[in-house]
Amino acid sequence: MTKFDKKYWEERYQNNQTGWDAGSITTPIKHYINGLTNKSIKILVPGAGNGHEFEYLAQQGFNNSYVLDIALAPLLNIKERLPQVDESRIIYTDFFEHNGQYDLVIEQTFFCALNPELRQQYAEKMHSLLKPGGILAGLLFRFPLTEQGPPFGGSAEEYKTTFSSLFTIKKLEEAYNSIKPREGKELFFIFEKK
Ligand SMILES: C[S@@+](CC[C@H](N)C(=O)[O-])C[C@H]1O[C@@H](n2cnc3c(N)ncnc32)[C@H](O)[C@@H]1O
Repeated sequence: MTKFDKKYWEERYQNNQTGWDAGSITTPIKHYINGLTNKSIKILVPGAGNGHEFEYLAQQGFNNSYVLDIALAPLLNIKERLPQVDESRIIYTDFFEHNGQYDLVIEQTFFCALNPELRQQYAEKMHSLLKPGGILAGLLFRFPLTEQGPPFGGSAEEYKTTFSSLFTIKKLEEAYNSIKPREGKELFFIFEKK
């Protein structure tokens, strides 16, 4: 399998091969953020690419939110779009090497971009990045997992197996408000750190 490393992602951005980029925040995540009442919570959006979710958070006054990616190109785009945001909130690193403690981590087409062999490691890393009772929430694709990807698929059953020893599955159901191209193909989830 191709190595989906920093070089791979950097080249995808340089070659404009960014079919995953919805161009703006997706409706399920926007809806979820709109329901958050405490704007001081510490939020991380990892594997955020051009960071549309982060931009929305910043616009909505979530001033303790952070964006992270292994590729520099999209982070520079974010800096340009959001000059008012402190640079310390734009983190250029490998997710698996990042340390921090967050109340909420938002998942948007990051999990599906990773080599499926890293799924357990992803769950463990998310667990370690969350404060007690912290939340991992967002979208996971629902289509068969094959050798083809990214994006790599999966099912609710597989996700339960991966996450349930570390998280309480508060919600894992078909998203009702997906963007058109993803309709019927994604699950909205809320997992609480055990
Ligand atoms: C499919 S893209 C999704 C980007 C963004 N979430 C979106 O929806 O537009 C996956 C992103 O994860 C980033 N990425 C891949 N592996 C990573 C890692 N180990 N640490 C941090 N970011 C990573 C890539 O650079 C890319 O921006």
